[in-house]
Amino acid sequence: MLLADPDYQNVSANWFTPQYWGEKATPVTAGGRGGAWFVKTETTEMVLRHYLRGGMMARFSERGYVFTGFHRARSLAEFRLLQTLGQRGLPVPKAIAAYAARYHGLWYEAAILVERIPAAEPFPESPELDLVDLWQEVGRVVRRFHNAGLDHVDLNCDNILVAQGQVYLIDFDRCRLRAEGPSEATWKRANLNRLRRSVEKRCQSIPEKRREQLWKHLVSAYRW
Ligand SMILES: Nc1ncnc2c1ncn2[C@@H]1O[C@H](COP(=O)(O)OP(=O)(O)O)[C@@H](O)[C@H]1O
Ligand SMILES: [Mg+2]
Repeated sequence: MLLADPDYQNVSANWFTPQYWGEKATPVTAGGRGGAWFVKTETTEMVLRHYLRGGMMARFSERGYVFTGFHRARSLAEFRLLQTLGQRGLPVPKAIAAYAARYHGLWYEAAILVERIPAAEPFPESPELDLVDLWQEVGRVVRRFHNAGLDHVDLNCDNILVAQGQVYLIDFDRCRLRAEGPSEATWKRANLNRLRRSVEKRCQSIPEKRREQLWKHLVSAYRW
């Protein structure tokens, strides 16, 4: 199954293989786990991502997921979520197309194409990483997503991109929109704790004391 944005009429299954793009595709080095490529054509710059397993299951099958219906395929779900978030005015990359293919009956593999955000860098690599303003902006942006009900289950530093002072969130695999309710505080806190651990790991270029201050700025901007 293939879903595509109406702006991209000619998408085909080939588009999801880096081989098809040849030299136009280069692996993403910064911040990914592999399985992602930048693709530069005459008209657009895109990011191609294959859904890969981590850990133990990777040995068994790196790409295969148990097929439980196209409506539940990870790529198609992320595509739809990106569209919804974009329509609500949240800073996310535009989704181009998503692909899911069933094989051997029981399995499927999946991939997604999104527009590349021009000049974007992962948060830990931003030249403004030492500036209070940037941390406050991250806090405000995370808050906007939370207000919309978005539970980002992998909110780490590398899934926050900075482009000309603008902050974007990416990588919505397995994320979902949650309704308001009593469990709200729990998942929001879990998102922030996840980010906090990632900051400790990925922002070591900043001395610990300073990092602590910057984190506090992020949290107070989030609260406001
Ligand atoms: N829309 C985008 N614009 C610019 N860079 C991107 C975009 N999407 C992903 N990247 C880059 O690719 C990396 C990996 O992409 P991501 O979607 O987080 O996949 P994964 O973490 O599963 O490898 C990101 O950390 C970022 O550096
Ligand atoms: Mg990521």
